[in-house]
Amino acid sequence: MSDPKIIVALDYPGAVPALALAHRLSPELCRLKVGKELFTATGPALLEQLMKSGFEIFLDLKFHDIPNTTAQACKAAASLGVWMINVHALGGRKMLEAAASAVSSCSKPPKLIAVTLLTSMAEQDISEIGINMASEDMVLRLAKLTQEAGLDGVVCSAMETELLRKHCGNKFCLVTPGIRPAAASLDDQSRVMTPEAALRAGASYLVIGRPITKATDPLQALLEINQEIQGLA
Ligand code: C5P
Repeated sequence: MSDPKIIVALDYPGAVPALALAHRLSPELCRLKVGKELFTATGPALLEQLMKSGFEIFLDLKFHDIPNTTAQACKAAASLGVWMINVHALGGRKMLEAAASAVSSCSKPPKLIAVTLLTSMAEQDISEIGINMASEDMVLRLAKLTQEAGLDGVVCSAMETELLRKHCGNKFCLVTPGIRPAAASLDDQSRVMTPEAALRAGASYLVIGRPITKATDPLQALLEINQEIQGLA
């Protein structure tokens, strides 16, 4: 598979378990997501090891700062040779444009996407910070702003994929967590979709953690998901 749709979330506290899991998987079958916990603990050295094994990496650090600082952080992240990086759309147009411009000037630009609203925020949390808008409208507004600012896509809940695909067109990259194969445990996720349903709804890539990382046989779990979505990807 040349463009695997599954991004496995390496939610680990350190390099040892992260590398152990990666070595059980294959870069032909998935990409890997390294987030704040793992990157803070291990730094770029772990990324180098993962990339040496052939994996493409989504470096999920969700930058959110003044435009210049965000742009420089994006440039530094891009220089690590990763496949995808991200920022918060709530940083606003100037920040998004600065990030897009910084990334596009890199020799090997990663995909740059934005988080719209954190899905951990309920309507009440959103109104508490002064946003008096339905979360779905806010997500769409931020996704459009992200697109206008020249970024490649957004992270979104599987439930929002259809709406965003309709309004942002076919080329906009939609990266979707909260995915659970039909037989898998929900863990702490609540509004989930199966891999097949999420891709049918318009997702470009699926972020999947525990259904693979906690499986007795992670490779087998990954193979089964890829089998389920074969033909859709
Ligand atoms: O184990 P699980 O499949 O629930 O992991 C999902 C991954 O996607 C985790 O790394 C989690 O932090 C991330 N994520 C999420 N929901 C979001 C954004 C990111 O679950 N809205």
